[in-house]
Amino acid sequence: MTENNIIIALGAAGMLGGEVARVAPPGVKLVWADRGEMDITDIRATRAFINDCGARGIINCSAYTAVDAAETDRAAAYAINACGARNLAIACREIGARLLHLSTDFVFDGSAREPYAEYDIPNPRGVYAESKLAGEIEIQTIGGDWQIVRTQWLYGQNGKHFVAAIAKLARERERLTVVGDQHGCPTCTWDLAPLLWRLLLEAPGGIYHASGGGACTWHEFAAEIATLAGSSARVDPITTQEWNRIKPSTAPRPAYSVLSKDRLKRTIGYQFPHWRDSLRAFFERGDLDRSRA
Ligand SMILES: NC(=O)c1ccc[n+]([C@@H]2O[C@H](COP(=O)([O-])OP(=O)(O)OC[C@H]3O[C@@H](n4cnc5c(N)ncnc54)[C@H](OP(=O)(O)O)[C@@H]3O)[C@@H](O)[C@H]2O)c1
Repeated sequence: MTENNIIIALGAAGMLGGEVARVAPPGVKLVWADRGEMDITDIRATRAFINDCGARGIINCSAYTAVDAAETDRAAAYAINACGARNLAIACREIGARLLHLSTDFVFDGSAREPYAEYDIPNPRGVYAESKLAGEIEIQTIGGDWQIVRTQWLYGQNGKHFVAAIAKLARERERLTVVGDQHGCPTCTWDLAPLLWRLLLEAPGGIYHASGGGACTWHEFAAEIATLAGSSARVDPITTQEWNRIKPSTAPRPAYSVLSKDRLKRTIGYQFPHWRDSLRAFFERGDLDRSRA
């Protein structure tokens, strides 16, 4: 660390941001921030907060993350995910701070049959996905010292997520149906948050993919969650088409969005644990009890 070790964990009231703040490495002077401290849609407030802190870097976990709601709330999604990202990039560039910004596998359309690399061409489907890609482009256009970390299928303590929702349903019901034709990589914030610190403090700029090891469908993920939750509920697969008939307001999701983590391995020698191991550890730590279904 240099003499300036002030880092802002932004979105710290959220699922990933909370974990990032919790695992700040020794030697870092952590500044905790969320919407109340700095509304990133307000360029003046953003500049003032970042300037006043004199931050050396920001890990930005703040975002508009309501994927389905975004379909009818386009202005809000873009204000936060695109304009907010731009405001942060401007404020960071002005004081020479590094911006580590979180993005998503949803920037890809899901038509690939092998893991997406950082250099693959995005083609988002749906408003949330488009607004996140717009944020990536804004940051790259403004320039400065930036890192964009795309992740996927997040769960963690203190959050509202798929693992908590399925564990609850599996304990309440005898049978669940879960989409079985979308493939991705479940990612525990417990694994991701310390990695974000390493990237910010040690790695070169650019785009990184960071998600759990291995790959599965939502159905396979749900079946493992039900088992670990001690449920004997039957978990059956359904197709995306069937799910969309049940829930017509669902935003489009990529059928295949497995992210390749080769760059991470080559740059800092990091390899994520397999998603099944991370999920088991999540249950063993008792983190499910701190989550919201
Ligand atoms: N969750 C996933 O599965 C997933 C998958 C891929 C990528 N990601 C990305 O990972 C990042 C973290 O996701 P998450 O699930 O941890 O998010 P989250 O739990 O929804 O937290 C987002 C935080 O951002 C805050 N925020 C919203 N608008 C803001 C604004 N204008 N100014 C300042 N803060 C604002 C929210 O506050 P309010 O509650 O007040 O709105 C909330 O505390 C996001 O960039 C997301 O796109 C997530």
